Amino acid sequence: MIKGLRPHKVFTMITTPLHRRIVKVVLPELHTPKILETAVLIALAKIVKARTFFEFGTYIGVQTLNIAMNLPPSAKIYTLDFDEESYKKVRHQHEKDSVVSLRHFEYEDKLAFLKSPYCKKITRFYGDSNEFDFSEFEGKIDMAYVDGGHDLRTLKSDTQNAFRIMASDHPACIAWHDYKNPDHPQLTQFLDELSVEYSMYHLEETMICFYLKNEPKNTLNMKIRIEK
Ligand SMILES: C[S@@+](CC[C@H](N)C(=O)[O-])C[C@H]1O[C@@H](n2cnc3c(N)ncnc32)[C@H](O)[C@@H]1O
Repeated sequence: MIKGLRPHKVFTMITTPLHRRIVKVVLPELHTPKILETAVLIALAKIVKARTFFEFGTYIGVQTLNIAMNLPPSAKIYTLDFDEESYKKVRHQHEKDSVVSLRHFEYEDKLAFLKSPYCKKITRFYGDSNEFDFSEFEGKIDMAYVDGGHDLRTLKSDTQNAFRIMASDHPACIAWHDYKNPDHPQLTQFLDELSVEYSMYHLEETMICFYLKNEPKNTLNMKIRIEK
């Protein structure tokens, strides 16, 4: 069962002093992520002290930029989305997601992080995530954000790959978007089923749910200070 968690719980897992909780975010507009979702994603990345972050689904690059702005200068952020060629091959299977993919192509030259000082931390990959070769990332990613295709085939494949690339020897996190999104009931059901095997949390008032691997001891009881 996925346990509900108030968002402030993940914020307070980041230790005081309060300046540890200062973040930079792009103020949202129509097509950009909700500020609370951005805040909890950044908090999760800070909790696992992410140095490597893999995003499934670049879209217009705002969340990629939000993450890049808040990870240390040496951090590496990878983001994967279709290019037009790979999209053409599978578009018939992606009718529900076509609006976001087409907008992604429209933004090809104006993704949020392009021309920003954070761009150098970000590596873009192009192609269908179902076909992407993840072998170079195996066991190396501190945080994965599964926010690509919502069809069950892609969701299962992205989730499987997220588990595969997760770091094995220190705290790491997988976050999923669109949990309880009424437009994607299959996604909610899939994550509910996954939570039978993995201890997962849903951050209330958001569509984010997450799993922490090698959870910093007692983190979710907030008994420890995780940053000095
Ligand atoms: C909801 S948007 C991502 C939003 C972004 N992560 C954010 O927070 O701003 C989903 C993106 O996933 C991409 N996508 C869907 N299926 C995909 C697939 N099989 N391979 C790669 N990208 C895919 C779409 O083109 C779209 O840009």
